[in-house]
Amino acid sequence: MIRDGEVSALKKLLESGEYSPSQKMTRKTESSVFDRRTVEALYETMTKFSINYIDFPISSGKESVVFKAYSSKKPLAVKVFKTSTLKFSNLSMYINGDYRFAKERKSRANMVLLWTRKEFVNLNACHDAGAWVPEPFGFHKNILVMQYLGTRAKPSPSLRKVKTPEIYFEDIIHNMRKVYHDAGIVHADLSEFNILIYRRKPYFIDMGQSVSQDHPSSKEFLARDIRNMCSFFSRNGFNISEEELLREVTNG
Ligand SMILES: Nc1ncnc2c1ncn2[C@@H]1O[C@H](COP(=O)(O)OP(=O)(O)O)[C@@H](O)[C@H]1O
Ligand SMILES: [Mg+2]
Repeated sequence: MIRDGEVSALKKLLESGEYSPSQKMTRKTESSVFDRRTVEALYETMTKFSINYIDFPISSGKESVVFKAYSSKKPLAVKVFKTSTLKFSNLSMYINGDYRFAKERKSRANMVLLWTRKEFVNLNACHDAGAWVPEPFGFHKNILVMQYLGTRAKPSPSLRKVKTPEIYFEDIIHNMRKVYHDAGIVHADLSEFNILIYRRKPYFIDMGQSVSQDHPSSKEFLARDIRNMCSFFSRNGFNISEEELLREVTNG
């Protein structure tokens, strides 16, 4: 944990070269430790976004770590994509075919940077369209900075964790429509895990893989999102057919 006033400590650590000096990491450590470049990027991000300190990690997954951070008392969420474990082959199907990224160099080294920017661009399009998503503030290298969803004490729970998910279903459908119909985006990994309940509204998160409607596989990705949500709805006593949900989400 990097506490108040310890930006300089992070800097010192970097200068001392003690922080994972070799880029090579064992399988065991690569899931929990950042490589040197990422620590540098984190330091630069703190400067760029005037972040005073990084609080607790909200989540630590295989491909990203999300921290709560503070910029002059304002909480932020900082999502750090791991450069070492992000799987190139899994990413390319969501980037190739998206005309917004057609001209980009898709080298392995560039992929994680593209992915970070892609999540930013997706969140931005959805936010501009008035959908409930965390407001994206910006990005730097492999790090995304966005609105923190939660209270001072704890981050917002996922839809999966709330006691009465059914009270959010109508708003979820409304948000699916905002994202697809108004923003022109297909989430492509929509599920009860990637919906957070914040101030009684369902916020869609995790949009790195989201694609433009024009992506050649967008219909397929949309159908999968619809299938996942119908299945979650029906497990919670709300029946809507996939055809009907598709109509609700797409029709003018
Ligand atoms: N803006 C945010 N505010 C609060 N918590 C967040 C925010 N973004 C992500 N999280 C938390 O971090 C977890 C992982 O983030 P997510 O974007 O879903 O990445 P991934 O699932 O690819 O690791 C989420 O399930 C959620 O609990
Ligand atoms: Mg997720």
